[in-house]
Amino acid sequence: MTKKIGVLFGMEDTFPWALMEAITARSGGEIEGVPVEISAMRDDAKIPYALIFDRISHEVEFYRIFLKIAVAQGLDVINNPFWWSSDDKFFDNIVAAAVGVAVPKTVLLPQKDYPPRTEAKSFRNLKPVDWDAVFSYLGFPIFMKPAYGGGWRDVHKCDDRESFFAAYAQTRDLCMIAQEAIDFTSYYRCYVLGRSRVRVMRYDPIVPHEHRYRTEHLEREPELEARVRDDALKLCDALGYDLNTVEFAIRDGTPYAIDFMNPAPDADLESVGRANFDWVVENMADALIERVRNPMPFELAGSWTRRMLSPTVAAVR
Ligand SMILES: Nc1ncnc2c1ncn2[C@@H]1O[C@H](COP(=O)(O)OP(=O)(O)OP(=O)(O)O)[C@@H](O)[C@H]1O
Ligand SMILES: [Mg+2]
Repeated sequence: MTKKIGVLFGMEDTFPWALMEAITARSGGEIEGVPVEISAMRDDAKIPYALIFDRISHEVEFYRIFLKIAVAQGLDVINNPFWWSSDDKFFDNIVAAAVGVAVPKTVLLPQKDYPPRTEAKSFRNLKPVDWDAVFSYLGFPIFMKPAYGGGWRDVHKCDDRESFFAAYAQTRDLCMIAQEAIDFTSYYRCYVLGRSRVRVMRYDPIVPHEHRYRTEHLEREPELEARVRDDALKLCDALGYDLNTVEFAIRDGTPYAIDFMNPAPDADLESVGRANFDWVVENMADALIERVRNPMPFELAGSWTRRMLSPTVAAVR
């Protein structure tokens, strides 16, 4: 029987369809790329795919739970719904530093407003923030962004105390991180697939969204790109993502990882352009086909657990 790779997706029009076609074509028909079909799910339901490729469960709880059950039934799910559910940008910065990738100095901030069903009394453990200490550690300008952010939502660049507090006042009950601004000379965004395939793209975050990948006019920097490629692989291996985009800002010849928790990255033809689109479609199809042909044992998280928790610590626990 033909094996099936199910693709679970939302509003995207270009990438999922092209990917499903590429899976079927590039596996010579051995594996078929199909849209996942799902409805109310019985607790004894059998999920009929060899692998599910997930583009949308971060927006839909019902899908996320379905995918966890798929894992429990022995399916491969990319990206891992368990790790994705527990990840955040501050934790990822700590992992990056531990595996030797440069990151901006960063501070995790208490939420500005009380989350639902909490009040002052819920926060008896929380001490007032020493803002002077935060500012002197980071220096201005400071980028403030949600620990669970994406799509440039609630990202603020703050040039001084006043603009910082004005921005913080708008953050509601989001958990924010504050970060040293990297004054960069160039900027890269990489697709990293299956922890081995990397597409290093020049990216211009300063211009409007639709022009950010139009960077043919920018000079290539081969040595730097080799380092960027290595760092991108290190990050995705440590974090256990099989599809991710990783952004680096270059300062004084060092790539600083800025944004590397994008387990359902933009892969739309219109925004990434034809060459990047074709690359991500073909390589993602090949990476998924490989995974079906050579199944990997399930891992709860990436290699950070092995690399950061020493055997003695792990044994005592
Ligand atoms: N520490 C920093 N130093 C310099 N620039 C930064 C920094 N943090 C964020 N930026 C700028 O702000 C942009 C948006 O930030 P970031 O990528 O972290 O947010 P996001 O919401 O995850 O975005 P995405 O849509 O790429 O997922 C970056 O592309 C970069 O241009
Ligand atoms: Mg980004």
